[in-house]
Amino acid sequence: MRALGERALEMVIHHFATRRDLPPATTITKSDAAARLHTELPEEATPPEQLLDLLAREVFPNAFHADHPRFYAFVPSPTNFVSAVADFLVSGHNLFAGHWLASSAASQIELTVLEWLCTLCGMPAGSSGIFVSGGSMANLSAIVTAREVKMGAHDARAVVYCSDQTHSSLFKALRVLGFARDQRRLIATDASLRLSVPALRAAIEADLAAGRRPLCVVANAGTTNTGAIDPLHEVADLCAEHDVWMHVDGAYGAAAALTPRGRALLDGIERADSITLDPHKWLFQPYELGCLLVRDPRHLVHAFHVGDDDHADYLADVARHVQANVNFYDRGIQLTRSAKAIKLWLSLRAFGLPAFREAIESGFLQAEHAERVLRASPSWEILTPAQMGIITFRYRHADLSPADLDAVTAWAVDRMRLEGRALIMSTMLGERPALRLCTIHPAGTLDDVERSLAQLHGFLEAEAALLQTPLD
Ligand SMILES: Cc1ncc(COP(=O)(O)O)c(C=O)c1O
Repeated sequence: MRALGERALEMVIHHFATRRDLPPATTITKSDAAARLHTELPEEATPPEQLLDLLAREVFPNAFHADHPRFYAFVPSPTNFVSAVADFLVSGHNLFAGHWLASSAASQIELTVLEWLCTLCGMPAGSSGIFVSGGSMANLSAIVTAREVKMGAHDARAVVYCSDQTHSSLFKALRVLGFARDQRRLIATDASLRLSVPALRAAIEADLAAGRRPLCVVANAGTTNTGAIDPLHEVADLCAEHDVWMHVDGAYGAAAALTPRGRALLDGIERADSITLDPHKWLFQPYELGCLLVRDPRHLVHAFHVGDDDHADYLADVARHVQANVNFYDRGIQLTRSAKAIKLWLSLRAFGLPAFREAIESGFLQAEHAERVLRASPSWEILTPAQMGIITFRYRHADLSPADLDAVTAWAVDRMRLEGRALIMSTMLGERPALRLCTIHPAGTLDDVERSLAQLHGFLEAEAALLQTPLD
């Protein structure tokens, strides 16, 4: 155990020490992957050291490193070593965190961390929640809860509202839960890509007039595309007026509530009935860690409680010994679940809040620096300014049509991924691709941002020149 553990520890330390020098994103082909890794069923034992070597050689390098300081694509996942240690400890002790009887102390830790997050979001005393695998599960659990609390059963007249910038996980959740396409309303956004409240009001009123049942509004607290925050107070007012559940998808952005400026930007989030927050995004935790915060945890129990009708016969003793009403299997979908909260608890306590605040603030500062650099050159057009650690922009070239610019952008993004020192990818804004940086790695520097943009610019210029070169 010791030899294997020390080997594994060395590998992880090496990764943390050298990740800045690795290529941020490597992908191999299917045939290559199969040649290196596929075997028949292992009837024979292999020394585990040999297998660790195989993992070190073939698996860990051939990946996207979302914890790389110059990984600016999607939502990066900068992690920390203390939380990685927690993951090892928790799986080494294999804590079952499904109910109080089995995991009283770990349940207390989960409750405590949930209370911290609710407090940081400004939610009232008594708010709580549950840790889940990530934003997708949290959003799904929120819709289940809204439906159970507001309607008690599925109703084909129910309608869910969200902006056209909402993350795809919500639409997947609605599909899983049996909502038809005509039970969702995609509300237009304004020029800043924030949900238009007049359009939301009009949609709710039209649905009411048509005999539909407005169930839930999902507001964004930091969209994945641009970091936009929907007008949370106005959404809350409208939800209160029509007795509609307010869910905030803050999977990406809600963690910014730890900082004074993030808290100010997120003003109104505290009025939500439920909030999705992903610590495996801007709270520097290894996958998988998301959570659903609710202003009234009884709502979760109402939605997920396993009762006598559910034939949970062998859980009867467990149910008898529940304390403070907390059996986490009664707050969510999973029965068997790991003690996920421990890594966040350990790192928050080990580093202290100020270190987290500084790390989050660095995400804001890097995106703002990117904006300054981009504005200083005529080669760039800013599409959305730095907000919540995200900026979107486009390459400009007087001699290229929009279609050619889009093609050049796609080629340069590919070259950046294959040869670049940073991972920068694109998203779609409206009908056209946009370049995008999400700069939340606290080990990322302003110099990293400048040099990465310079390299991207070089690739774009080279691709543009190639496009303009006559074939003969
Ligand atoms: C705003 C938002 N919501 C939900 C999700 C889904 O979260 P997960 O990938 O953790 O399931 C994401 C993921 O990027 C996101 O950015």
